[in-house]
Amino acid sequence: MAPEPQSSPQFPDPHVPKNPVLGWSSFSRAPVSDRDSTISLPSVLSLPHKRYVTSARVAIALALQRLGVGPGDRVLVPAYHCLSMVEPIVFCGAEPCFFALTPALGVPLDALAARDLSGVRALLVTHYFGFPQAMEAICAFARSRGIAVVEDCAHAVFGHADGRPIGSWGDYAAVSLMKFFPVYDGGCLASAVHPLDDLDLQSPSGRFEAKALLNSIERGLRYRRFPGMQAAAQTTLMVKDAMWRGFKRLRAGRDSVPFAYHDPAASEGVNGLDPAWLDRRMSFASQQLVEHLPVARIVALRRRNYLRLDAALRDLPDAHPLFDRLPDGVVPYVFPLWVGRPDRVFVRLKTDGVPLFRWERLWNEDAIRVDPLSARRATEIFQLPCHQELTDDDLTWIIERIHAAFAAAVLKEAA
Ligand SMILES: Cc1ncc(COP(=O)(O)O)c(C=O)c1O
Repeated sequence: MAPEPQSSPQFPDPHVPKNPVLGWSSFSRAPVSDRDSTISLPSVLSLPHKRYVTSARVAIALALQRLGVGPGDRVLVPAYHCLSMVEPIVFCGAEPCFFALTPALGVPLDALAARDLSGVRALLVTHYFGFPQAMEAICAFARSRGIAVVEDCAHAVFGHADGRPIGSWGDYAAVSLMKFFPVYDGGCLASAVHPLDDLDLQSPSGRFEAKALLNSIERGLRYRRFPGMQAAAQTTLMVKDAMWRGFKRLRAGRDSVPFAYHDPAASEGVNGLDPAWLDRRMSFASQQLVEHLPVARIVALRRRNYLRLDAALRDLPDAHPLFDRLPDGVVPYVFPLWVGRPDRVFVRLKTDGVPLFRWERLWNEDAIRVDPLSARRATEIFQLPCHQELTDDDLTWIIERIHAAFAAAVLKEAA
């Protein structure tokens, strides 16, 4: 059973964008760093077999279906997870079989070898935060046991694992494009070995196509990413907001179709897997942006922003960067900060509008029983954005808010 939806405290919208938002700068081809740019090619998006869908969770579900995973099968999945890693497994009727990660969030092959793997048909390998798993050894382990590998590349569109693009090792790779590109919807199911031409995907509705385009622009406008267009746009947004509120009021009561039916849950920031989106391709606007925005800039700026946060947040009391360093070839999704006693600062930071998040909840008690550390990781690993659309001022603001929150926590304890 999926966990019950939980009412989470309401925090203001982030003061700076949590995920990339579209702006004039998204199109810039000015070189940022030649060295980092070379990481961008080839990537999972250059694999010979590739289909654009609306989210990574849909891509995981499709991968499992194509592998024939169904009722009675088990799928290995890390005990430290977000709910949308598990949802597709349960959707296929299979049982999630949780395993504890190594301290560095690696797949523990020795421990897995000692487990009863009967009925296990697939292994979900997540490249947490963009840091690659040891894919050569993992694939050798899995293949020798007849277990298929699905690479969860939600956090890792670019970068390499054991000398090959992340995503090219497994049977299938599932990509979350909204985390790396300024798009409203987007995922990709890719494979180095399995053709995907027979995957029957329908076009989304015209309404959704329009929404995906307008939403990307609107988010950029809200975060003032279109200098020169802002004044006129601000008025348009106010009118649009008022109309939208009116439309929703009108619709309330006579429309029983849940909102998520109209938009993929991923775009709405929720965890569910809505079957209505399983056979839909990504919107045209999102696909154009993914295929044409300059990738070298994304790669270089993400690394640069990560390193800036890393340097600024090394000396916090009772907190430290989760990883010691950013290896060459890694293109981070976020900057993960490990925070002991997180509740001293979490609410204050969220209330201030700092765009941080953590996974909070695990699928069920099984995950915690298999790995008690997973529950701590879910609350103690803060994910801070380092995406390419953060300005230097945004980063300065985030860093200052974090220092202020920790300083206040220390003062409060000393009082
Ligand atoms: C590790 C991981 N896998 C899969 C997903 C699902 O991605 P999407 O939101 O594109 O469905 C997420 C989403 O946050 C994730 O963090």
